[in-house]
Amino acid sequence: MWVQFTGPTGTNAVEAAMKLARNIKGRENIVTFTNGFHGVTLGALAATGNSHHRGAAGVALGGTSRAPYEGYLGEDIDTTAYLDKLLCDSSSGVDKPAAIIVETVQGEGGINAASIEWLQNLQATCHKHDALLIVDDIQAGCSRTGRFFSFEEAGIKPDIVTLSKSLSGYGLPFAVVLFSPELDRWKPGEHNGTFRGNNLAFVTAKAAIDHYWSDDSFSREVQRKGRYISRRLEKIVAKHGEGQFTTRGRGMFQGINCINGKIAGEISQKAFQRGLMIETSGADDHVVKFLCPLTISDLNLKKGIDIVEAAIGEVCARQDSIPQEMDFFKATQATV
Ligand SMILES: Cc1ncc(COP(=O)(O)O)c(C=O)c1O
Repeated sequence: MWVQFTGPTGTNAVEAAMKLARNIKGRENIVTFTNGFHGVTLGALAATGNSHHRGAAGVALGGTSRAPYEGYLGEDIDTTAYLDKLLCDSSSGVDKPAAIIVETVQGEGGINAASIEWLQNLQATCHKHDALLIVDDIQAGCSRTGRFFSFEEAGIKPDIVTLSKSLSGYGLPFAVVLFSPELDRWKPGEHNGTFRGNNLAFVTAKAAIDHYWSDDSFSREVQRKGRYISRRLEKIVAKHGEGQFTTRGRGMFQGINCINGKIAGEISQKAFQRGLMIETSGADDHVVKFLCPLTISDLNLKKGIDIVEAAIGEVCARQDSIPQEMDFFKATQATV
């Protein structure tokens, strides 16, 4: 496996992966998915779905076609079959792609976790149409979902993988593209720049890999904490759910999907008042996103989830009281 040290941001690794795929296949089109997030520099931005980010481009974003991610057209529709049909149909307007780029769990797009079957079907679609499979593992990789790579469980073999975020193990900017030697079509210095790699991050990343990945104990720890998070979130949803909340994600990459962004925002705000920073994601910022450090202690993990649970309880109690407040308001108006 070749490791290419790109500029130290995730978006630069995606730029490199997309360029490489286009050079290898001699085709421009790259298929991307609804709610996908791949960064905000122009090449990667064309693969990103979010209109807020796309709107800042100021130029047409080209060279990509968008397909529905798993679940986008409803639970029972296999969107890889839909993509396959588009690619088979010469009048669909979707050009033969150089690659398909995918997140196995969409982070910024709202913690949408693709099933193993869908990922396997996607790989088969790539093979059928001679397209490379790029897994953007910048957010879901480095053990976030349990194993080092997020696609391991699915048993698929992407052609190109991007990694960044916690790769340095120390919060330092660092990004890489992985691909097999036969895909190396770069001419010397083609994707260059002053700050390829980040010297300090090389040291911390190596230390992190030696320390956490010399055996599978860290991976098992993440899986154990992931199961704890699942149990707690399912309980919270069962208690307060009633059509308002559902859980989503896998490993230590999970979320509570709220009925709208307003509720998710209130939960995040209430949690902040109780001393916990927790962000939201998704098209309407409607998913409260649990992305705590993989090394978090059991006690802190429990404390953090306790805070979110209390914040949700507070938001739900306030919502329950709104109709009563309105009744009271109407009653007092009537007597005034
Ligand atoms: C899946 C994915 N790809 C690419 C990026 C872009 O990385 P960066 O913000 O380092 O440019 C992100 C950032 O959140 C991401 O989640």
